[in-house]
Amino acid sequence: MKHLLKMLDLTSEEIIDILNLADQLKYELKHGIPHPHLKGKTLGMIFQKASTRTRVSFETGMYQLGGYPLFLSSNDLQIGRGEPVQDTARVLSRYLDGIMIRTFEQKEVEDLAEYGSIPIINGLTDFCHPCQVLADLMTIREFKGSFDGLKMCFIGDGNNMANSLIVGCLKVGMAVSVACPDDYQPPKEILDFAAAYDNFELTNSPVQAAKDADVLITDVWASMGQEGEAEKRKKAFAGYQINDELMAVAKPDAMVLHCLPAHREEEITEKVFEAHAKEIFEEAENRLHAQKAVMVKLMA
Ligand code: CP
Ligand code: NVA
Repeated sequence: MKHLLKMLDLTSEEIIDILNLADQLKYELKHGIPHPHLKGKTLGMIFQKASTRTRVSFETGMYQLGGYPLFLSSNDLQIGRGEPVQDTARVLSRYLDGIMIRTFEQKEVEDLAEYGSIPIINGLTDFCHPCQVLADLMTIREFKGSFDGLKMCFIGDGNNMANSLIVGCLKVGMAVSVACPDDYQPPKEILDFAAAYDNFELTNSPVQAAKDADVLITDVWASMGQEGEAEKRKKAFAGYQINDELMAVAKPDAMVLHCLPAHREEEITEKVFEAHAKEIFEEAENRLHAQKAVMVKLMA
């Protein structure tokens, strides 16, 4: 494993290795056991979109590992004025030991990896959000004990979160059921991958997808960059909500996850959100541990 660009690139074994290391790093942090695996290393963090969790968890995680994080807003970098990513990659590779990037196009992340000579970590693109899904898998295993026999149901937009969840959950052996409006399905590349699994289902019925689910997950109806479509999307996604009606068809002990930020009474009701706040905020915490594991695997 040289980079973390998308879940599609990881083997099942690599995913489990990252989760095991993440569990160990979480244990060490909670017990005050130092783990300075990245002493003297630097991570550049390029942000072309807003962030609370990703920025703070990478920055803190790098500090806890003994390294130094640099926050690089695209407003301040020459990349924001049009310097090609190919050149940025070759320059930053001469100063840094790794780069985390949050941006729009997946191609930009892939180009950084191709032209640079240091590990690249995808901190969210329009196509995928692998760091979040590693934290989600960590949280599912923490609450359920293992992935065996579990069904994950995703309700809503066939977006970056849906894409990474479909791939990640199928790779660790879970059944996956996704409910999207017909015009908002995941892209062909993801559906082609999922087609090889007989435990994958795509439907436009949230109730059908949620039936007997062990884990229900949703995400915002309008992602970053889609703010102009918010009103149109509110209409298209009406009914694609995790609420009491859906929880009633899921398993009685089903857990609920949300990558956050959440829009209450849109993709999830306030009531369901608060009833599952324990899992949702553990999931947010696990961003820290899962990303530290990724950085150790790639940069130590
Ligand atoms: N879930 C997530 O990636 O959060 P931020 O946008 O706050 O980083
Ligand atoms: N789908 C959301 C996820 C935010 C973490 C977005 O891209 O804005």
